[in-house]
Amino acid sequence: MKITTDDLRKKWLDFWREKNHAIIPSAGVLPENDPTALFHNSGMHPLVPYLSGEKHPAGTRLANFQKCVRTGDIDEVGDATHLTFFEMLGNWSLGDYFKKEQIAWSFEFLTETLKLPLAKLAVSVFAGDDDAPRDAESAEFWGKSGVPKSRIAFLGKSENWWKKGDTGPCGTDTEMFFWTGDEPAPEDFQKTHDDPHWVEIWNDVFMTFDRKSDGSLENLPQKNVDTGMGLERTVAILNGKKSVFETDAFAEILEKIAELSGHLDVFQNPTAETELHFSARILADHIRTATIILGDRVAPSNTDQGYILRRLIRRAVRHGMKLGITENLTLPLAEVVIEKLGKNYPELEKNNDFIFEEIVREEDQFRKTLISGEREFEKLADKILDAAKKHDAPKKLAGKKAFWLYETYGFPFEMTAELCAEKDLEIDRKSFDEAEKKHAEMSRAGAEQKFKGGLGDTTDATVKLHTAAHLMVAGLRKVLGDHVEQRGSNITPERLRFDFSHDEKMTDDQKSAVEKFVNDAIAADAEQSLEEIPKVDAENDPTVVGAFWEKYPDTVKIFTFKDDAGKTWSRELCGGPHWQRTGDLGIFKIKKEESSSRGVRRIKAILEN
Ligand code: ALA
Repeated sequence: MKITTDDLRKKWLDFWREKNHAIIPSAGVLPENDPTALFHNSGMHPLVPYLSGEKHPAGTRLANFQKCVRTGDIDEVGDATHLTFFEMLGNWSLGDYFKKEQIAWSFEFLTETLKLPLAKLAVSVFAGDDDAPRDAESAEFWGKSGVPKSRIAFLGKSENWWKKGDTGPCGTDTEMFFWTGDEPAPEDFQKTHDDPHWVEIWNDVFMTFDRKSDGSLENLPQKNVDTGMGLERTVAILNGKKSVFETDAFAEILEKIAELSGHLDVFQNPTAETELHFSARILADHIRTATIILGDRVAPSNTDQGYILRRLIRRAVRHGMKLGITENLTLPLAEVVIEKLGKNYPELEKNNDFIFEEIVREEDQFRKTLISGEREFEKLADKILDAAKKHDAPKKLAGKKAFWLYETYGFPFEMTAELCAEKDLEIDRKSFDEAEKKHAEMSRAGAEQKFKGGLGDTTDATVKLHTAAHLMVAGLRKVLGDHVEQRGSNITPERLRFDFSHDEKMTDDQKSAVEKFVNDAIAADAEQSLEEIPKVDAENDPTVVGAFWEKYPDTVKIFTFKDDAGKTWSRELCGGPHWQRTGDLGIFKIKKEESSSRGVRRIKAILEN
């Protein structure tokens, strides 16, 4: 069978549409009110408020494909399965159907729509522990569908419990596996589930719990189903391929890399194990991810998402150089990605000028940095050679210094080693690795520290700050002008952080005027009201403020805050949740206003009681 990513995408959406699901658009990759993650990493992630009880405007049965970014294992990229960007197919029941229907439909989709032979399928269900009992019910439904008992394994938390993070929605799951070996699949799945030829293709999560920050479990207000199927990976399997790099998702970009580098083999034989092939796979993956992130208008920077983006682009360029590409490579490769994915993610086409400008700027800057790095290397080498001559010191570049070149100038170890060889200097990989490890430990500790500060989600404090953010947008537009639009938002119970389009530093007077606007709105005790209207109408309504329209479904929620005297303080497109009246928000204070990236300013603000 030859099936493409768009074929599978279509089969998926058609299947769920036929089962009365609303097809919702993919959200952007930036989580809006979740300080625990830099990017959306699954289809359920943008749906957390709705899994937690908020009403979704499109109803209780949803399906989509979602762009996901996972940068936790950047260093694994290049092997057969790890990607930093991938697409996840998903369907959801928000308190609607549950295990019985989901399992029957999963079986139908796999065996009838995809026509996978039952002889190559197996499933796992939760074995039970203190948090939840053994999931005999799911096993029974699988059995009724026709899965033999021997192909149903009961496994523990590490396999059959899904959670988004340390807190938030979670639950038991049942996973579906496909046998990819050449030999017939072994009968006893309980015994053989660890065999790498069993590849997971789909995960049905029965999301019924909310993990609190003290570790306790509470029931969610409704029983949900949340499922996820990796698009690229499943297409590989359906085509009998072992690697995502052998699917159409990567065909055009690898072909372009082959053309730019002259190494035709990286396209013809994409899974080979040579250094060059690794570099081609890394380059392809990273440019795909970088283009997707840029498509949501994040620019390279030294913090948060912008920093990940910078690392991805720089690493891509380095590997491009290893392949011998000396000309600009990011532009032609980003073009290929937009051409491939643009019809599914219209924001890529809409923002293509931004994508091209930023990716080329970053590549140019990095190529220049490499030149200054070489100069620094020359200086270091001169010193070492001088000391060797004068005091018979060892002709050796310390690992710490090599790591410094890497950190400051993005110099890969291999390149420094090459330069050392030319000067007859020794260099030691081990001490470089040690320096790198120490650095990684320090930044990991930093990141953990940063994300420890409690989940924002739907605590009262977060909801109040989110409500204040609405009033602030209205205030910013009044004081600075209508060009102000949201670019990002990150809210914890302690503070709000909000990025918006504006070119200049705000003056003290402007900041005070915005604070006054928000505090006046609070004093007026405006009341929230909600309308659900067609997106086209909202978009054409000049009184509605909104950003990222493409992320919203066809019916949208508009939240208005109006006081008893009839004055409207804010009217904005949003998903919620919001505080009912502004009167008890507290006193609004802007703590900081700074640049976030080119043309984007960032405000940190708090509410005081
Ligand atoms: N949220 C589930 C996953 O990511 C479906 O596997």
